[in-house]
Amino acid sequence: MPQSLTIVDTINALRKDIKALKASSKTIGLVPTMGALHQGHLSLIEFAKQKCDIVVCSIFVNPKQFGQNEDLSSYPRPLQDDIDALERIGADIAFTPHVKEIYPKGFQTNVSVKQLSQCLCGASRPDHFDGVATIVSKLLLICQPDIAIFGEKDFQQLLIIKTLVKDLNIETQILGSPIIREVDGLALSSRNQYLSNEERKIAPHLYATMQQVAQTLKQSTSIAEHLKQAKKTLIDHGFEIDYLELRHSEDLTPITNLTEQSSDRARLFAAVKLGQTRLIDNIPF
Ligand code: PAJ
Repeated sequence: MPQSLTIVDTINALRKDIKALKASSKTIGLVPTMGALHQGHLSLIEFAKQKCDIVVCSIFVNPKQFGQNEDLSSYPRPLQDDIDALERIGADIAFTPHVKEIYPKGFQTNVSVKQLSQCLCGASRPDHFDGVATIVSKLLLICQPDIAIFGEKDFQQLLIIKTLVKDLNIETQILGSPIIREVDGLALSSRNQYLSNEERKIAPHLYATMQQVAQTLKQSTSIAEHLKQAKKTLIDHGFEIDYLELRHSEDLTPITNLTEQSSDRARLFAAVKLGQTRLIDNIPF
């Protein structure tokens, strides 16, 4: 087992390392990230460390999952800080490829998990999940890990990845890991650093409002009315709403009527904008 962090930036080098590790019967866990690592990412690495002998963390800001008017160029890339954090936490391999290594000239393949990619974030970010599915497929094929860990913070992404692994018969077990939050409830995100001081003070109202409406919905049948009221509360706080919706957690189909059965599987999903910053969150019911 490597004693310290090995940094590799080519597919061949990673494959070679993985092959050698597998030859000595090491189990491999992969944690894909876009870097700007925070405690949310690090919790996935801790989880992988408990499950596997070797933890690989990929850091790649994937251009294919950003829309034309999104924040690809301004997305934070503090690579040295990330490497230091991975070293401190005891990850084994950092995979930090350049864009041309992943998408060489002539690249034309697209992985699309059709239905699950259309609702919620997919409705306002049409090509986003194809970009995610394509890069995650590549990373799984390059690294061939025993397990790969993804955060429930991006719950729709987690379901899409579970589906593509099943549909494509990829031999990796996909595990979800709970959302890590600031003490005031704001879900950690690399994008939180875009928030101004004033916006940062407003941001926790998203989680608080979601918790309130989830509580109310448990005692009520008028879902639409309560969601409408909660959206108004969010708008009054200064958020612009993309969606606030109650859906089934296993297939993201909408819930219009809460029965005992559906309430067990229900999850509340939200995406909002605060100034220029997009925030997403979700809570079980
Ligand atoms: P990124 O946003 O960097 O997130 C990497 C992983 O960290 C994802 O699985 C995400 O769900 C998880 N994560 C982020 N914030 C978290 C939090 N507060 N608590 C728990 N987990 C959290 O998601 C992506 O990158 C990309 O789409 C990727 C899967 C790497 C493909 O490019």
